Amino acid sequence: MRLDKYISSSSLLTRSEVKKVIKKGVLVNGELIKKADYKVDELTDIIEVLGERLEYREFIYIMLNKPQGIISATEDKIDKTVVDLLEDRDRILNPFPVGRLDKDTEGLILLTNDGDLAHKLLSPKKDITKKYYVEVDKDLNDNDKELFFKGIILDDGYLCKSAKLEIISNKRAYLTISEGKFHQIKRMMKAINRKVTYLKRLEIGPLILDDSLPLGKYRHLSKKEINNLQIIKEK
Ligand code: URA
Repeated sequence: MRLDKYISSSSLLTRSEVKKVIKKGVLVNGELIKKADYKVDELTDIIEVLGERLEYREFIYIMLNKPQGIISATEDKIDKTVVDLLEDRDRILNPFPVGRLDKDTEGLILLTNDGDLAHKLLSPKKDITKKYYVEVDKDLNDNDKELFFKGIILDDGYLCKSAKLEIISNKRAYLTISEGKFHQIKRMMKAINRKVTYLKRLEIGPLILDDSLPLGKYRHLSKKEINNLQIIKEK
């Protein structure tokens, strides 16, 4: 990996700061290097910047509060994507969104380059729960709770796994599902004759959207949050 790429991905320095630092010289295994394209071995080389040893990060884990109008993909010809919302240094390790939210859905998106974790989180066998806040056009009632619990049948005949509907007030509820079919919640609501007017994802398994994150903003996961996700990998 290039020296400048290594420093950007494993420090909080901006691109221009990385350039300046390299101009002055960075210690690679004790040798002063001033070339941005100098090749380092991220696993074995000891790299010191401004007197501090950098620790190589192999994986990146980010939670983003997705606003409406943004696509859950790495690139799109027309619309802005969740990856476009990341700063350059957070894109270096090529994170991608785990699963999809519709363009008009808000809320929790996990971005990572940990393919194994992504695979496990999306695997239907793992039954990872996803909790949403949902608003609909007509009142919900206890009978609907029962229908969701028993399993909603979608327009294509698919019988959904049991889901938990928690009614907050007439047209507002939390809905927890453990699968991820295309437009699943909108279609589940359609099956009980309701139309989703607002949808926001709050949780993916153990990961809970940080409610201090404004729409369009993101943060790196804490060690504890990463550990909680890693447990899923081991199961
Ligand atoms: N279900 C939907 O209908 N849309 C989403 O974005 C997520 C779940």
